[in-house]
Amino acid sequence: MRILTGIQPSGTPHIGNYFGAMRQIINIQDKGETFIFLADYHSLTTAPEPEQLRKNVLELTLNYLSCGVDPEKAILFRQSDVPQVCELTWILNNVTPVGLLERAHSYKDKIAKGFAPNNGLFSYPVLMASDILIYQSNLVPVGKDQKQHLEITRDIAIKFNNQYGEVFTIPEELIPEEVAIVPGTDGQKMSKSYNNTIPIFGKEKEIKKAIMNVVTDCKALEEPKDPDNCNVVALYKLVATPEELEEMKARYRAGGYGYGHAKLALFDKLWAYFEPMRQRRAELEQNLDYVWSVLAKGAEKAGAEAEKTMDKVRRAVGL
Ligand code: ADP
Ligand code: NA
Repeated sequence: MRILTGIQPSGTPHIGNYFGAMRQIINIQDKGETFIFLADYHSLTTAPEPEQLRKNVLELTLNYLSCGVDPEKAILFRQSDVPQVCELTWILNNVTPVGLLERAHSYKDKIAKGFAPNNGLFSYPVLMASDILIYQSNLVPVGKDQKQHLEITRDIAIKFNNQYGEVFTIPEELIPEEVAIVPGTDGQKMSKSYNNTIPIFGKEKEIKKAIMNVVTDCKALEEPKDPDNCNVVALYKLVATPEELEEMKARYRAGGYGYGHAKLALFDKLWAYFEPMRQRRAELEQNLDYVWSVLAKGAEKAGAEAEKTMDKVRRAVGL
């Protein structure tokens, strides 16, 4: 079973990213032969600052390695280190009907959000198809919003196979079970766009301050409280054992337990939860040669697989 997943570099990670996305990607590495790529070619569709893009690739690698990607279990690599994926994109362009791309929701959404309608953005699903097909992936974990892109990938693969012979594995999407939305300090969805985040790798003071700012109602210390409608409890649930959670809920209901107490308990648990990851990150930051070597080895392994596919593709189309 070959599983492939791509991640876009996206700023300082918060605990919403961890529980909503990173943890799932890390769990996947135990389920099959796993390829995880840092989607820097895809990032170019929205024109990031060049220095920022390079920095983001390193940051993302550090974050995933710190949080548990194991280079012995998963092939972690930078998309652009295997440029054959662009060669394949060109070839696949020629079996991709324009109408198929015109129907893509994500393109229409991006344009509606004001992104310049460049051809990269338009043909993004073809690059995505190349990413998937070049590694002969069986399973691609994606969010619901990406389901259509997987359908496009299958259409392209089937069309190519019909025209040139059986070259590509037809992939399936794996829609992970719904992960709960992690609330931010203001109770809305935690998001870097809302300034309501708790960063994974923040300083102790910064994280404590964010937690102390978590919005609650204003019941007095002695009053009983509702644990089922409280942001502090919702966050505590992510990092506490079921017993610890029940204990906190009982204290809420009993009264005599203030939000300040609950927030301190949350801070302690959260800080302890991410302690091994912080330590690992600090070690890796002191050993960037190792981090780059992980990407280099990943590129070598992924590149070898890509080259196998491209050899078949080139022969099939007459190159
Ligand atoms: P942000 O909203 O901070 O910009 P991104 O859009 O970059 O976060 O999300 C990166 C990944 O993290 C996505 O897979 C997204 O679903 C997940 N994610 C982000 N915020 C949350 C959240 N509050 N709860 C659960 N998952 C989240
Ligand atoms: Na694996």
